Amino acid sequence: MTEMNTLADRLPGDFLFGVATAAFQIEGASKADGRKPSIWDAFSNMPGRVYGRHNGDVACDHYNRLDADLDLIASLGVGGYRFSIAWPRIVPEGTGPVNEKGLDFYDRLVDGLKRRNIKAFATLYHWDLPLALMGDGGWTARATAYAYQRYTRTVIDRLGDRLDAVATFNEPWCSVWLSHLMGVHAPGERSMDAALHALHTTLLAHGLGISAIRASRPGLAAGIVFNPMQIYAGSDTEADRAAAERAFDFHNGAFFGPIFNGAYPERFLSALGHRMPAIEPGDMETIRQPLDWWGVNYYTPMHVAADTSETAEFPATVDAPRFVEEETDIGWEIHAPALGDLIRKLNATYALPECYITENGACYNMGVENGVVDDQPRLDYIAAHLSVTADLIAEGYPMRGYFAWSLMDNFEWAEGYRMRFGIVHVDYETQVRTIKKSGLWYSELARLFPKGNHAAGA
Ligand code: FCB
Repeated sequence: MTEMNTLADRLPGDFLFGVATAAFQIEGASKADGRKPSIWDAFSNMPGRVYGRHNGDVACDHYNRLDADLDLIASLGVGGYRFSIAWPRIVPEGTGPVNEKGLDFYDRLVDGLKRRNIKAFATLYHWDLPLALMGDGGWTARATAYAYQRYTRTVIDRLGDRLDAVATFNEPWCSVWLSHLMGVHAPGERSMDAALHALHTTLLAHGLGISAIRASRPGLAAGIVFNPMQIYAGSDTEADRAAAERAFDFHNGAFFGPIFNGAYPERFLSALGHRMPAIEPGDMETIRQPLDWWGVNYYTPMHVAADTSETAEFPATVDAPRFVEEETDIGWEIHAPALGDLIRKLNATYALPECYITENGACYNMGVENGVVDDQPRLDYIAAHLSVTADLIAEGYPMRGYFAWSLMDNFEWAEGYRMRFGIVHVDYETQVRTIKKSGLWYSELARLFPKGNHAAGA
């Protein structure tokens, strides 16, 4: 028996294999058909923010190559496609007029998936906030949550009948902490106060979005995608174990607590609550609503130790050494067992619905040689994480599917185009797509699961 068959035998017959992308990372055509700039257009045009000052103007030119790219997805034999919808194409100024041409594009995308018998997993927000909303404070302003709700209603009214699943947000950890506290992603803010405001607005927007989805399409499987952290204490000392617990509250609990329990974590609130915006009556009920599914994006674990300096802000941690030296080309430690530890820990802490791995994959930058991309390490990475997923299923966890990040090489945010995560290689000069060795392997595996296309939550 080949290794592939051994792996396939450990996964259920209706397991969904898919590929994932996000609008800003692949679409390009940033000024076409009424689209207006997002915060990522502005951010990438500012010197010093994105590697090489790369931007999303052309990206993979997916907007103009939609049919060929859908054929490519179909040729991989996968049952699902996870994509995101660009708010700046639908409501280009955040509030105000709806842009029909933007909706038309996603209409064609969704119809194209249906024709090819591929499940449509849409993400409503994958970081491309309409730039016009920054004038009012972007995610730090409560009004943005209501603008998001209207955008959501507009999308679901038009496309909801043909979606198989929808996620309100992709990785709020990134659009909150990484974008407003650490300054690495747009809008590049570095302020705990701004970040705490962005946190509450984002969670409120999630809840308002779920209400809009339920009102428009009660049967549609609605959820959210997180990048939760598997946090390991740097040592067994009490100080480091406490640091790991604080880190859990900050990186995971600040999102999972409100959404699944209707409350921010206590330690988090007592340290930072006074700097948060007013939590208005009804907010926590809006945020906590039953979900049909959740998505986990997992790449690498986190190691923390206590930060004992006097100025340290909650969660007061510093990086601790990694378990292994092996890392991908973007410098992320490879440790597949952490995916298992993470899913076990989160399910032990919260009552979670069924779960899809909505992103997993590896950055390796090898190019095409004699028509071939030999990316064996990416193949090994995906296989190792699928093997952990099979263990979780055997233990009874409701893991329903796996989406490889990414369908193709694309704009890797602050890293620009230099970091490649695709199972398909993109030549940015010619836009030629070449399926990598990992992609051929993944395709062969996915084809063993012809039933892998049940609807989430159905
Ligand atoms: C995740 C993002 C995704 C991609 C991968 C590598 O944080 O959701 O868009 O950039 O990382």
